[in-house]
Formats: sequence, structure tokens, C-alpha cells
Amino acid sequence: MSFTDRHLLGIEHLSPAAITEILDLAESYVTLNRGTAKHADALAGLTQVNMFFENSTRTQASFEIAGKRLGADVMNMSMQASSIKKGETLIDTAMTLNAMHPDLLVVRHPHSGAVDLLAQKVNCAVLNAGDGRHEHPTQALLDALTIRRAKGRLHRLSVAICGDIAHSRVARSNILLLNRMESRIRLIGPPTLVPGHFAELGAEIYDDMREGLEGADVVMMLRLQKERMDGGFIPSEREYFHRYGLDPEKLALAKPDAIVMHPGPMNRGVEIDGVLADDINRSVIQEQVEMGVAVRMAAMDLLARNMRAARSPEVMA
Ligand code: CP
Repeated sequence: MSFTDRHLLGIEHLSPAAITEILDLAESYVTLNRGTAKHADALAGLTQVNMFFENSTRTQASFEIAGKRLGADVMNMSMQASSIKKGETLIDTAMTLNAMHPDLLVVRHPHSGAVDLLAQKVNCAVLNAGDGRHEHPTQALLDALTIRRAKGRLHRLSVAICGDIAHSRVARSNILLLNRMESRIRLIGPPTLVPGHFAELGAEIYDDMREGLEGADVVMMLRLQKERMDGGFIPSEREYFHRYGLDPEKLALAKPDAIVMHPGPMNRGVEIDGVLADDINRSVIQEQVEMGVAVRMAAMDLLARNMRAARSPEVMA
């Protein structure tokens, strides 16, 4: 086994072999999910708790479906109705749940680093479902699986990530993963949304969409993360779409078989043309959602194996 970690907190901690192992196992879950009987027992007897301190559609639903398909007892904590609202801290909430012996804790939190901190306090495996601007590892893994299925490989591709890079954990995790798999990454957007220090992560930076898209194999669009902005980063959404929104004319600069990706949620007419987003000949956005379930099944399956191996008598002796 290459992925021997106790938690899945970020791409930063994963080797190329570990990434490949997760994606290979996810492939088998794609097949299972496309069948009529969608159940396996990799998580039978285990308890999975989902704690989402920020809104989510795709990540929360797919973690819940993934856990249920693998036989776990899944509980979705309603954070709005929890004692957090009475002033209980994140750590006290986590310690309270920890006392109920969960096996897998899936956490999304608005603060970068909060999920890592929580992982240090509990006994179970923790999966980062997105923390602030820091990381969203399962999103990058599902994006990688989608790219690998469309292009047949993850190395020597030219991937353009466009839009609000500054506030995006999706961009950060994707840059780390694609770099590790030896692809070329171009970040495209206005300087206010693509700070120069991202070059340190091994990416090229462009503020001209036409230059940046030239010859790209993959075009990944990101929404403006207004919930993490504390000022005016663009003159207007109309002008932003004109300069940085993906439409058929700009996409024509990429390779003729370039795929269009978006992690969602999308703002049609702001970062992407709505018709292009729905064009099944170019857009793999719905496939990304499908791969999300398979990747989360694979990640939880491998973490459960690691957990069992750590608890086995040989290890304890
Ligand atoms: N891509 C993503 O994280 O979407 P949600 O916010 O809907 O989970």
C-alpha cells in the first residue's frame, strides 16, 4: 500500500504513488456505482460523522452517499442546530463526538488549518472536506480522476486554472496534485485574484486569458469566492465575464479536444458561459460530480484499511 496515512488532510502529504492508488481504487467504485446493486461492505460496522461548518451541496451529498454505499452508519451533524450556536468551541464539539467512538470524521470549516487541528485531538480518521483557502483534497482527487479518464494520463498535460485563485482551496489542492503528477499549470486571472506568490507553487501566471489558454489540454474555471473576499477585487461582473469568462471564442484558443471543468457551484454568465457549461462535447462538469462519489468511497475505504492495520494485534504487540 502506498497510501498509509491515518487522515486525509491535504494533497500536500500525498506521494504520486498514493495519489495513483486512490485513483485506481476509485475506478473500481465508478464501475460499482454504475451498476444496479451499488453496495459494498468496506465500511461495514464503522460510524461516519459529517460535520459541515460551511454550506455544501456536492461534497456533503457525495460523502454521505459514499459512506452509505460502503455500509457505514452515516450521521450528518446539523451545525446550525448544534451547541456551536451556544458558544461551544470546535475542539469541544469534536471531543464530544470523539467520545461516541466515530471511525471517520468528515469536516468542512471556513478557517484554514481548523481540520488539521481537529485531527490532532480525535482518535478517528479525519477527512478534510475543505478548510478555508487551504485545501480541498478530495476535490483535487476527483478532478484528477476526471482528467485521467478523459486524457488517459496525468503527466505532461497543460492545465489552465482560471479565475479567483487567491481565495480558492480547490486551486491550491489542484496545483499541488498536478505538479506532483508532472503536469504544467497555468493560472489565469486579474492580478488581484492571482497573486504572484502562486508561482512559488510551480505555476505560470497569466493575466491575459487568450495567452494563458493557448494550447491547453484542460481548462478549469473557478467561481469568484465572494464569501472570502473583503473588498472590491473586480470592477464589475459584466466586465469580468468579458475579460475572464470562458466562452466558445476563448475556448477555441485551447487544444481542439480540451475539456472544460468547474468544481461547482457555478455562476453562469460570470466565470463561464451557460451553454458551454452544458455542452457535453466539451464540458465534463457532471462527470466531475460522478467521480466525487467514487473518489470519496476510495479515500474512506483506504483510511479504514489503514485504521484496521494499525489496530491489528501484530502492530499492537
Ligand atoms: N466543489 C464543491 O466543494 O462544491 P460544494 O461546495 O457544493 O460541496
